[in-house]
Amino acid sequence: MSTQIHPAPVAVKIESVESRYVWEAPIIIGHWMMAVSITVLLATGFFIAWPWASSTGEATFNFLMGRFRQIHFIAGYVLLASFVIRIYWFFAGNNYARSGFPFFWRASWWKQLIEQSWEYLTIHITQRFVGHNQLGALSYLIFIAGMGGAEIVTGFAMYGESNPGGFWSTVFGWVIPLLGGSFQVHMWHYAFAWGIMIFIAIHVYIVILDSIFLDNGMVGSIFTGRKFVRKTDVDNKTWLS
Ligand code: HEM
Ligand code: HEM
Repeated sequence: MSTQIHPAPVAVKIESVESRYVWEAPIIIGHWMMAVSITVLLATGFFIAWPWASSTGEATFNFLMGRFRQIHFIAGYVLLASFVIRIYWFFAGNNYARSGFPFFWRASWWKQLIEQSWEYLTIHITQRFVGHNQLGALSYLIFIAGMGGAEIVTGFAMYGESNPGGFWSTVFGWVIPLLGGSFQVHMWHYAFAWGIMIFIAIHVYIVILDSIFLDNGMVGSIFTGRKFVRKTDVDNKTWLS
């Protein structure tokens, strides 16, 4: 008679994963307005700086540079609108809209920032956040709120130069003497454009890397608003507490 050997039961650890609505519609709409407008601003802006094509003949029929500038200004208004939406939603949105906020005065903020920087430098990413992590949020503050904001201020100041005394020259005209003249404003505007371009390259690389390492559907989240969340994730759903 044959004896049947039953294998010993193996404990299988099942990790429960929840799909959570993290990014609300204004965050997603604002993100894509920003991403598309900045891409157009970079393409048209670098044409303004380095016109690689020119046209000959009667100016009325060859409005090439004028058209590039016109598209640049339209995209500038879209970028401004995305800023207005995002600033409003910082106050009106859920706590993930404020996640990763730079609490410079807290030792815990610095500790997490250093830990995350080390994880990205060594490409060994373990910490999973439901909202933004500290490093990501700091990069948005410096490159988008800071440099993007400076692009808006310097851009509309230069735009106002073609209509002295008009709306934009009244609102931002003071920037020109402050920075030492129109040429300097052009140069700062040009320099920040490079900073933003470097941000985009690193940002897109990191969100794809995170999506793969953390398996939390991060890339998809900026389209659907939903992320895959585990119990072990750092859930920064409280604000200023
Ligand atoms: C010009 C290009 C882009 C710019 C300027 C940009 C800018 C930003 C900003 C400012 C945020 C913070 C969102 C907020 O809290 O309101 C963000 C988040 C995010 N972006 Fe982009 N983005 C760009 C392109 C992309 C692309 C192409 C992808 C997808 C591959 C992407 C995926 C994401 C994701 C997943 C987040 C959330 C990440 C996190 O938790 O920190 N972005 N982006
Ligand atoms: C991320 C945002 C932006 C980027 C990357 C960007 C990029 C650039 C670049 C590279 C130039 C050429 C610099 C030069 O040689 O003078 C430029 C010029 C200019 N930009 Fe922007 N820009 C941005 C936002 C804006 C905004 C919001 C406005 C407002 C309307 C604006 C208005 C202008 C004006 C008036 C010029 C000078 C055009 C000329 O001299 O013919 N820009 N931009």
